[in-house]
Amino acid sequence: MQEGVTPWQHRTVLLHEAVEGLWDPAVGPHPQGVYVDATFGRGGHSRLLLSKLGPQARLIALDRDPEAVAHATQGPSAITDPRFQIVHAPFSSWADVMADLGLAQVHGLLMDIGVSSPQIDNPVRGFSFRFDAPLDMRMDTTQGESAADYLAHASADEIAQVIRDYSEERFAWPIAKALVARRDEGQPVRTTAELSAVVARTVKTREAGQDPATRTFQALRIHVNRELGELEDALESALTTLAPGGRLSVISFHSLEDRIVKNFIAKHSREEVDRRVPFAQPKPLMLDAIARIKPSAEEISGNPRSRSAVLRVAERTNVPWSEALVASPAAAGKSRGSKPGAKSGGKPAAKAGGKGGRR
Ligand SMILES: C[S@@+](CC[C@H](N)C(=O)[O-])C[C@H]1O[C@@H](n2cnc3c(N)ncnc32)[C@H](O)[C@@H]1O
Repeated sequence: MQEGVTPWQHRTVLLHEAVEGLWDPAVGPHPQGVYVDATFGRGGHSRLLLSKLGPQARLIALDRDPEAVAHATQGPSAITDPRFQIVHAPFSSWADVMADLGLAQVHGLLMDIGVSSPQIDNPVRGFSFRFDAPLDMRMDTTQGESAADYLAHASADEIAQVIRDYSEERFAWPIAKALVARRDEGQPVRTTAELSAVVARTVKTREAGQDPATRTFQALRIHVNRELGELEDALESALTTLAPGGRLSVISFHSLEDRIVKNFIAKHSREEVDRRVPFAQPKPLMLDAIARIKPSAEEISGNPRSRSAVLRVAERTNVPWSEALVASPAAAGKSRGSKPGAKSGGKPAAKAGGKGGRR
């Protein structure tokens, strides 16, 4: 095995639907189009996309996980197609990556967000309560704060808010209190097994078919990787960087993410007139909502991890970004930073997994 290339497999979810969502089926991909796969993973979507694009097109992939980048660049899984390039970067910075590459406009942006199977199945990554390992949970292992590091300093209030807001865990407060009590006794939680044990002792009711630690692990993972803020930032950049007619194809795996995608598309594709203002003009619409697609029963039976997936597709209209700014100067601001508890689900005040660190 090459250094950095791991053996765990990922079964791509909504493979054809997400890739073919990137263009109007009556027209096909743009012959000189620039396409972005912002979540390369093991490259399932990228490989199919390359098979559909013409010889003059380009595909730029991103992933914040160095193992995913190694998979694209090293050993038998490497993609040597000259139209393809991968950048180690968080997808919140995808528009900056394009600008650095001198690519002003993008014809399709694909995002298959969340964790990959290799991340969950590799015991040393610390994402899963199924294996005992250091409690890491960072997608980008080259920077930021691990889940254990976070739990070593956060207050009980902060921990409870993260767990509650990012997983709707009813026992968020008792779990947070138990974690901090253990830390105060000189035994901070450092491993997945220790975290699971604290949660199992604290959560009093059991949901059928679900480990009691499921929600707490999800919440800490979302926090450590700033997952919702990353998503909000990446979507905002689609307004400025997608070409007219360019498409956005986003797969999400839980309701917090899907709500952000759904609200973003609705906000920029629905007519809204302020009826309190006489002769108010509708704001220019930046997006057309194209589709909402769920995996088929057949896909779910072959890949149970796909069961919660939702794909949403939207198309950038011809309205220039400058017109939207004139109609709504507030649109100029990027998504607001917010701690857990904010309505948007937004951007926790985590130090970890932030922007930058691009290589
Ligand atoms: C569900 S997997 C993608 C699988 C891929 N579509 C395939 O077919 O193999 C999600 C990938 O996105 C990456 N990722 C998640 N959040 C990211 C972010 N904010 N910036 C960059 N990459 C991210 C993860 O590291 C992971 O490799």
